Order: sequence, then C-alpha cells, then structure tokens
Amino acid sequence: MSSVNEAKQYIKNIEKQLVNSNTKKTIIVDCDPGIDDALALLLLAENLDKVDLKLISSCAGNTPIDITTKNIQFFAENFFNGVRIAKGSKQPLVKKNKTDASDVHGLSGLGDYVIGEQHYPCELNAVESMKDVILNSKEKVTILALGPLTNIAKLFIQYPETKENVEKIYSMIGSINGDGNITSYAEFNAYFDPESFDIVSKCDVPMVINPMELGNETRIKKEVFAKMPTETIKDNFVKVLAESINETVDPTCICLYDLNTVLALCHPEFYEFIPCDIKVFVNPEIGGKTILEQNKNGIHAYQRVVDEDKLNKYILKTLFKN
Ligand code: BDR
Ligand code: CA
Repeated sequence: MSSVNEAKQYIKNIEKQLVNSNTKKTIIVDCDPGIDDALALLLLAENLDKVDLKLISSCAGNTPIDITTKNIQFFAENFFNGVRIAKGSKQPLVKKNKTDASDVHGLSGLGDYVIGEQHYPCELNAVESMKDVILNSKEKVTILALGPLTNIAKLFIQYPETKENVEKIYSMIGSINGDGNITSYAEFNAYFDPESFDIVSKCDVPMVINPMELGNETRIKKEVFAKMPTETIKDNFVKVLAESINETVDPTCICLYDLNTVLALCHPEFYEFIPCDIKVFVNPEIGGKTILEQNKNGIHAYQRVVDEDKLNKYILKTLFKN
C-alpha cells in the first residue's frame, strides 16, 4: 500500500474513533444471570460499537450472589475481553431474601450449561466500583439493570452525588398494571427488593422501565433452536441456555425479558417510550406490586414494542442464527 493510502487509512481510523467516542454510551450493567440476563449480555456483546462498557456487577436475584458472581466472571473472561467486574449485595435492602428463580433458570442460573470453576478476578465491591466509574466519567453514565435494584439503591443512598452523573437507568422491572409472575401481583425483580425499586424511582434519575408485560409478549418459539449451529462456543452456549429455560408463561417459548432492556438502549427503533410515573408498593401484603401511570410530564418512561416482527427477526438473526 502507498504511503498516501496508508495516511488516508490512518485518518479514517482516527475519524472513526472520534465518532465512536462521541456517540458511544458509557454504561454499567448490573445483573443476576439468569438465562435471560445471559442472553441479554450476549446481545450486548454484539453491540459493542454502540456502548463503552465500563463495569459488570452482580446482584442477588435469580440465584444467590455467589452464583450470579461466578456467572459474570465467566462472561468477563469469555465474551467481554477483560472488562472490570464487581460483586453486589447478598441480601435485598430491607427484608431478607424471600425467594429465587432457580425453577426457571436452574440452580446454576445458566440452565443445563456447565461453566466449572471460575478464576477471573472479582475482588471489587459493586457499589464502590459503580461510584468510581460514575464519578470519574466525563460523560454521564447509563445503567442497565437486569435484576433487583439493591446495588443501585445502595449507591444512591451512600453516594448521592453520583445521581448527577447518571443519565438514565434502563431497568427490567415491575409491571404496568400491578400484575405479576412470581406472585399474582408482583414481577420477580420488583418483588425481590421492592424498597430498592421505590427508592431508585424517587431519585430524580430518569428510568426506562421494561415492564413484565413486554417480556411476556415478546417471545421466541423454542423449536427454532433445533436449527441453530453449535460450532462456536458462543452459539453452543446460546442454544443450551435457550433450550433449558423453564418459562412459566409458556414452556414452549423463551420470553425476551432482559433482552428488551439491552435493545432499548442499542436498538430503540423497536420500541416506543411512554412517559409515566412509577408507583411501587412496599407494604408486606403486596410488596413489589407496581403501577406505571402514563403522564406526559413524567421523568420516567416504559417501553412498548412497535415493530415486533423486526425485533424478532433481529433476535433470530443476531443471537439464534436463524
Ligand atoms: C425478570 O426476572 C428474572 O427471572 C429475569 O432474569 C428477569 O430479569 C423477569 O420477571
Ligand atoms: Ca434478570
């Protein structure tokens, strides 16, 4: 190649880096993998041109914290090339843990997929690490929350100055009309730690809620996984995960719960965002029940799918190689 061409290529690369550094969102992912969390992370790995991922932290939820932490160690080593990771709280903010979702995700959180011992270092604390990322970031930071909101509530309680530098929290939590999946009135993440959701929703940081109804409605039939290739570690992982989920809404499908949160940020064209107020009930009889009431002046919003066909095609192509 001539030196003129090399120089042109060099300038192009610099320009590309500049565009990326201007448009990429600085993000933190807090999660409790969890099969749909795992698939959401894999989908995020396909969209790293849109985000600058600074931290993955674990929260307790689908399985106990030691297991969700082991799972993020596996992700950091295999799919995110050395990203910083940190361990979150063992228990919800106020009440002791009442439940988990191992009936859906398996005791390992990853269905039938066996990851073995993990050695990727995870010595950091989630709240401290989030604080460091947020206070040291020139850009406002976006948080993707795929599990209960314990770590984020603790962050805002202990370090209220971080709120200023958080752009939005995208969160898979709650339901629009007070329906549930873990009880008749509460969605799992809201039920697990209602006090944390209540606190975070009152912090003046805009939330984009991915409600339970959206996850129930956006489903992929398990039969499509039969056609999936399994040559790469990743494809094999996706196939085993997706086939082993034990979805309570419809055992023949996988619901796209946490995946819709990653896509709200990376592919907002699939959704509309309805401004709303958030009401979280914390009284013991109905703890975790939520109402998302439309309010055109509300600082929060909830997602609704506008083009389900396009969304399905994207997921099938990107994740399930169909
Ligand atoms: C939510 O609960 C968990 O089981 C899933 O990972 C998802 O975050 C769905 O209600
Ligand atoms: Ca989750």
